[in-house]
Amino acid sequence: MGMKERLQELHDEAVKKIQESDALDKLNDVRVAYLGKKGQLTAVLKGMKDVPPEERPQVGQLVNDTRAKIEAVLEETKKQLEEAARELQLKAEVIDVTLPAKKSVIGHRHPNTIALEEVERIFIGMGYEVVEGPEVEYDEYNFTKLNIPADHPAKDEQDTFYINKEIVLRTQTSPVQARVMEQGKLPIRMIAPGRVFRSDEVDATHSPSFHQIEGLVIDKNITFADLKGTLEEFAKELFGPETKTKFRPHHFPFTEPSAEVDVSCFKCGGKGCRFCKGSGWIEILGCGMVHPHVLEMCGIDPEEYTGFAFGVGLERIALLKYEIDDMRLLYENDIRFLKQF
Ligand code: DAH
Repeated sequence: MGMKERLQELHDEAVKKIQESDALDKLNDVRVAYLGKKGQLTAVLKGMKDVPPEERPQVGQLVNDTRAKIEAVLEETKKQLEEAARELQLKAEVIDVTLPAKKSVIGHRHPNTIALEEVERIFIGMGYEVVEGPEVEYDEYNFTKLNIPADHPAKDEQDTFYINKEIVLRTQTSPVQARVMEQGKLPIRMIAPGRVFRSDEVDATHSPSFHQIEGLVIDKNITFADLKGTLEEFAKELFGPETKTKFRPHHFPFTEPSAEVDVSCFKCGGKGCRFCKGSGWIEILGCGMVHPHVLEMCGIDPEEYTGFAFGVGLERIALLKYEIDDMRLLYENDIRFLKQF
C-alpha cells in the first residue's frame, strides 16, 4: 500500500473512532492512539526514512495535512461533547425556586450563659479578673482552708460527693478563693464562675450539679463599706437602677461578719407579690469579710490585709432574671425553651 493510501486509511479510521466517542475521556484515548507519541500517525512519520528523499517533502506535507484534518475533527467533537456535558450538568443542577427553603438551625445561648456573661461584664467593669479552679477539688481546699471544720454538716456524705477521703467534687466555688490567695499576688480582685456539685435530689430548685460565681477582693483597708457598695452596685446593674439591697446577718465559716443579701423585688418594686412570696425581697447571695484565720491559712497577714468575698448562685440569677419557675428547665435543653431568652 502506498503512503497516500495508508494515510487516507488512518484518517478514515481515526475519524470513525472520533465520531463513535461519546465521552471526553474516550475522545482523548483516540487522540493518544493516533496523534500521541506512540500513536499511529507518528509511526508513519518515523517510517519516513524508508521514503526516497525526493518524495519526502510531499509525503511530509501529506502527513501534516492528515494530522491537521484529524485534529480539526477532534476539536469539533470535543466542543460538542463539552457542550453536551454542560447541558447535562445544568439540567441536573436546576434550582426549583418554588421549593421551600431549608432552614439553617443555629444554636442559642443558654440562659445560664447569658446571665454569666452579664455578671462578668459588671465585675470586669469594676476591674475584676475572671479566674477558674478545678471542679474535682481537694477536701482541704473545699473545706479546711475555708475554716470549715471536720465535723461541719456540709461535709456530710449527704451533701458532698466524695471521690476518696481527700478528694471531692467541689460543693462551692469558694475553694478558688484559697487557691488565688495562696498564689500570693496582692491585691486581689477576682470572680470565679464554675460548676459545683451536691448530693441533692432533683426538684424545682435543686440539682446535683449547678453553678456559682465566687467573688474575692483582698487589699489594704478593705472594709464592710466596700463590700456593701460593691454588691449594691452589682444588684443595680443586674436588676435595674431602682433596686434596693438589704444585708441580713448570717453565718459562713470563712467570713466574719457574714451576711445574706436580699434585693427589692424587681417584679413588684417591694410591695409584695407572688414572685417574692409577698415579702417584697428576694435573696440573691451570701457574702462577708474574709475570716482572718482563712487569710492566715492562705499566707496573707490579716494585720496588713483585709478583704471581702461573696458567692452567687448562677441558676438563681438566671431563674430570677428570666422569671423561670423551675430549675429543671435549665438542664433539659429543649430548644423551644432555650430560644425564648
Ligand atoms: N460558698 C457559699 C455557699 O455555697 C456561698 C458564699 C457565701 C460564698 C459567702 C462566699 C461568701 O464567698 O462570702 O453557700
